Amino acid sequence: MTRTTLTKMVVGMLFLQSIILLSCKHDPEITDIINPPSDTTNNTNTGCSADTVYFAQQILPLFQSGCAMSGCHDAASHEEDIVLDSYSAIVMTGGINIANPTSSKIYRQMVKTDEERMPPPPAPAFTSDQLALIAKWIGQGAKNNSCIESGCDTTNVAYSTHIKPLIQNNCQGCHSGTSAGGGIQLVTYADAKAIADNGQFKGVIEHLSGYSPMPQNGAKLTDCQISMVNIWLNNGALDN
Ligand code: HEC
Repeated sequence: MTRTTLTKMVVGMLFLQSIILLSCKHDPEITDIINPPSDTTNNTNTGCSADTVYFAQQILPLFQSGCAMSGCHDAASHEEDIVLDSYSAIVMTGGINIANPTSSKIYRQMVKTDEERMPPPPAPAFTSDQLALIAKWIGQGAKNNSCIESGCDTTNVAYSTHIKPLIQNNCQGCHSGTSAGGGIQLVTYADAKAIADNGQFKGVIEHLSGYSPMPQNGAKLTDCQISMVNIWLNNGALDN
């Protein structure tokens, strides 16, 4: 082997090595670091801790009503290959980063301020409380957890503190904008009052015969949530 060939080989190897080194260096700001959580335990806790966010009760209904409706991110439509109708689909396709929750792909999409925001306008954006809940759930490890309420506090049930958030978290995504389910909007107090007065609210959440069971394709509301709605209805469905 001549001296020049050897030099050429060494230079070539150094060059290759620098390419390899460069391609390994990535910027965590712009890369989608996917750190998929893998909680397959589906652990159900008796009693709900206020410090813990529970997937089954607090997160899944948000995704089901805000994202997984027909035409968007249900299994059949899977827009952009993103499916948000179950735990396994959410953690597999949502680009969830438990080390840095707000950098998760789905989260970044929800806080956009232009027409790319999810859920897309004219559907209302997730509220800051809902976004904080999603980020907190991711930060707590994006667990497939669930809890059973040990009691149901039905004192001072009011529209603003109980019914409005219940509708926002379980119904509003499908019942807003131009393709609202059944043409029914559930955004304002007047919207809620209308389905309260004609009996539909009670009928759909209690799965009474003659009504379509709601939330559509989701779990029935808990007994406690149904009691809250009934108390509000029985007190005249006030704007309180
Ligand atoms: C995943 C989407 C989705 C969610 C979540 C959802 N709905 Fe619906 N809803 C629909 C669609 C679609 C229809 C029209 C088709 C039908 O009646 O089944 C509908 C119909 C209705 C109707 C008319 C049904 C009837 O029997 O006349 C009412 C009232 C209603 N929804 C209330 C609610 C309430 C209250 C919630 C929350 C507790 C809710 N919906 C959650 C999609 C949804």
